[in-house]
Parts: sequence; structure tokens; C-alpha cells
Amino acid sequence: MGRAQRPYYVPVGNEEQVFTAAFRQGLPVVLKGPTGCGKTRFVQAMAYDLDRPLVTVACHDDLTTADLVGRFLLRGGETEWVDGPLTRAVREGAICYLDEVVEARQDTTVVLHPLADHRRQLPIDRLGLTVDAAPGFCLVVSYNPGYQSVLKDLKDSTRQRLVAIELGFPPPDVEEKIVAHEAGVDPDTAAGLVTLGQAIRRLETPGLREVASTRVLITAGRLVSEGLAPRAAARAAVAGPLTDDPVVTAGLVQMIDAYLGENLAPGSA
Ligand SMILES: Nc1ncnc2c1ncn2[C@@H]1O[C@H](COP(=O)(O)OP(=O)(O)O)[C@@H](O)[C@H]1O
Ligand SMILES: [Mg+2]
Repeated sequence: MGRAQRPYYVPVGNEEQVFTAAFRQGLPVVLKGPTGCGKTRFVQAMAYDLDRPLVTVACHDDLTTADLVGRFLLRGGETEWVDGPLTRAVREGAICYLDEVVEARQDTTVVLHPLADHRRQLPIDRLGLTVDAAPGFCLVVSYNPGYQSVLKDLKDSTRQRLVAIELGFPPPDVEEKIVAHEAGVDPDTAAGLVTLGQAIRRLETPGLREVASTRVLITAGRLVSEGLAPRAAARAAVAGPLTDDPVVTAGLVQMIDAYLGENLAPGSA
């Protein structure tokens, strides 16, 4: 069977080289960057390039150690151990991506610690055993800087082994390419949306910078690809979700009207 296509990812800096080097050295990776800037897509592309399975865990605030490691479940009157995603990744030598690890409960550090340090081992207390990570296992965590993080509870010696990769929003020329590709819109439409996004990110309004993400611009582009005029698409996909404040909304609508030209659907001119 042939391999699937590489997930579409356009590098912004040297992140692919840094990730590859960390992977080869068995070092854990931290991806820092705002929501919607390409962290998940980047890991998917790297898993493809390095030919490793990818196990993704979307963290949330009551994610427990058992959710990661596994638990005994009752199956037809018998109790049976079922590996959690982290254990599966450790055994298979997969890339394990803990998405938004900030959300995880502090006690999960206990299992992440020996995996992240030189031991590369996962202790499974309930089974009374310790599993050595298979070659190819790589722990990747993402987080949004500025939040409380379980990472801050790691020992300094472990933190110092982490390889950090900062992923910001791509520069305009790259972001235009991405929006055009992902939304299936023409280069001019993509450029208009990106110019708008960049302008919103320059505003001082707290919180707005982050939310005018690449993902949001792609969503607007997808509406345009369905025939919506760019202005209408941006109102629905950019202004609407970003804020509930009527004053801020009015300001955004003005920007949309200024940056996105005429309110015509593509092909309707
Ligand atoms: N550098 C990039 N190359 C290709 N696509 C990108 C890139 N950055 C962002 N994207 C697009 O933006 C969307 C949101 O990115 P995602 O990886 O889900 O963000 P995050 O995980 O940081 O929240 C992706 O689905 C992808 O379409
Ligand atoms: Mg993500």
C-alpha cells in the first residue's frame, strides 16, 4: 500500500530541522504558539516525514493519569487492562502529541516526568511495571504561552531537556499561500483576508490578536469558496466569533469593509 499524502504544511522557519533533530536524539518537544497557528498540522507533517504513527491526546482540565496511561475495565465479568493513548504510543514508538497540555491535571506530571527525562520510561503503577519507550517514541506537548502549565512543575533537569519550538502566525506571503490552498480561494481573495487578519492582530484590543488566527482566515475563505462575498464571509467567520462586544464588532466591521473591497461575490461582478 502506498503512503498517504504528506499533510500540507508550509514551514515558517527552521522548525522542521529542529523537530527532526530532537526526534532523532529522543528529546521531548514543546510547541509554543497561539491557537490556530499551525501546531497540530506541523506535528502531523512531522509524523509523516519521520514515518511514525501519531497519537494525539486533546488535553482537558480533568484529564487524569489513568486517561493517559490506561485502566482496568470490566468486560463480560472479567477485568481487563486497557492501555491509554500514552502507553500505546510508548509501546509502538509513536509520536505522542499532548495538545494543550496546560489543561491537564497537575498529577499527570508524575508519568510525564520519567518519559521526558533521560530514562524514557513510563511507570504503570496499576500493573506494577515500567515500560521502556520503543525507539521512535517522541513526546510532544503544545501550549499557549501565558497560561499556567503542568510544565512548570517539571524538575529543572527535565525542563532543560525540552526542545522548544515557537510557532507564531506565518508571515503574510506564507499565510496567503496557506489560506489559498486550504480554503480553495484565488490568491487575491487570500491576500485580502490575510491583510485583514494582520491588521486585526496589530490592534491593541486585548484578546483579539490571538483570535484572528490562520484558522479563522481559512474559515472565512471557505465561505467565499461557497460563493459568499468576502465581506460577508469575514463578518461571519472573523468578526462574529472574535467578540461579543458591540463596539469592538462595529470596529471590526469597519476594518472588514475597508480591507475587503467591494461586497461582490466572486464571479458575480
Ligand atoms: N504553516 C502552515 N502550513 C499549512 N497549514 C497551516 C499552517 N499554519 C496553519 N495552517 C492551517 O491552519 C489551520 C489551523 O492550524 P492548526 O494546526 O489546527 O492550529 P493549532 O494546532 O496551532 O491550533 C490548519 O488546519 C491548517 O489548515
Ligand atoms: Mg491544535
